[in-house]
Amino acid sequence: MNHPQSRFAVVTGGTDGIGAATARALRAAGADVVIVGRSQEKADALLRADKSHGGTGSMSTIVADLAEMKNVITVVDEVADRTDHIDLLVHAAGILITRTEHTTEGIEKDFAVGYLSRFVFLEHAARRSLLSRSTRMVNIAASAPTIPWYARMEFSSQTEVEARVGMRSHGQAQLANDLLTAQAPTRYGITAIGYGPGAVNTSIRREVPHAAQAIMKPFYARVTRQPEEVGAELLAVLLDPAVPAGSATIRNRKGTFPAAAYVADPARQHELIMVSEALAARALGS
Ligand SMILES: NC(=O)c1ccc[n+]([C@@H]2O[C@H](COP(=O)([O-])OP(=O)(O)OC[C@H]3O[C@@H](n4cnc5c(N)ncnc54)[C@H](OP(=O)(O)O)[C@@H]3O)[C@@H](O)[C@H]2O)c1
Repeated sequence: MNHPQSRFAVVTGGTDGIGAATARALRAAGADVVIVGRSQEKADALLRADKSHGGTGSMSTIVADLAEMKNVITVVDEVADRTDHIDLLVHAAGILITRTEHTTEGIEKDFAVGYLSRFVFLEHAARRSLLSRSTRMVNIAASAPTIPWYARMEFSSQTEVEARVGMRSHGQAQLANDLLTAQAPTRYGITAIGYGPGAVNTSIRREVPHAAQAIMKPFYARVTRQPEEVGAELLAVLLDPAVPAGSATIRNRKGTFPAAAYVADPARQHELIMVSEALAARALGS
């Protein structure tokens, strides 16, 4: 792939922050972009702003609450009404909550939005034959192999996975995304890039109480990056001819790096898939 022109792109979490910036970059480069977000108001504003741009690409929206897996299925079906192939997929939907909250389908909400929705999207997109070896996915996560407690998070027990709430659930969603990225070429036949953006100046902490924000301050004090910078970087990653088709790579702004042993481990990837299938089936009542 050399150019996104005439390429069909889907950006989940495309109504704000990194996803919105990436969607704009893709659209400016000529792709037909569908942004998925939960806010109708933000989606409408993005479309209004997009109308002032010329060019060959297009932007359209699907408004849905991705915390509920039944809505993820509907989103994929709507995408299937618009295209027979997803060329570029950017998974950027995510939240950061420290409270304990479960969706109406019984899934911890941070894990539901930030990870399980991406798994269910891929599963259903594969069922609808929307994916192929030429599909390139960027899966945004923390991708931080240096954080030691990531290594200790296991997915072998559904009970343990479901017992994690608050920041532990946010953390397991990040690790799960890296494991899903590593598994994606085998399971879906696509090219997968796990991307850790570092600390970026977005509204991701909007639901975090002030006291907890104070604890996070040292991490976010280093925030120097704007979403537009990340969007431009992701556009370059999506177009990078050096990324081999059907491969899985993990990268950040400094480039690619080998997946940590606990991400590269096929047994762990398999355990995640097993638990994801079980959670998705329960959420969907199937
Ligand atoms: N910012 C950082 O420093 C940072 C660092 C590491 C990783 N990340 C990851 O990067 C990704 C993007 O984060 P961001 O910083 O760009 O955050 P953001 O500005 O808050 O954007 C999050 C996006 O996800 C969407 N979203 C949230 N809940 C949703 C739901 N229930 N249903 C559908 N869409 C939903 C939002 O839609 P609405 O706007 O319509 O609500 C928005 O488009 C997240 O996965 C985050 O964990 C961010």
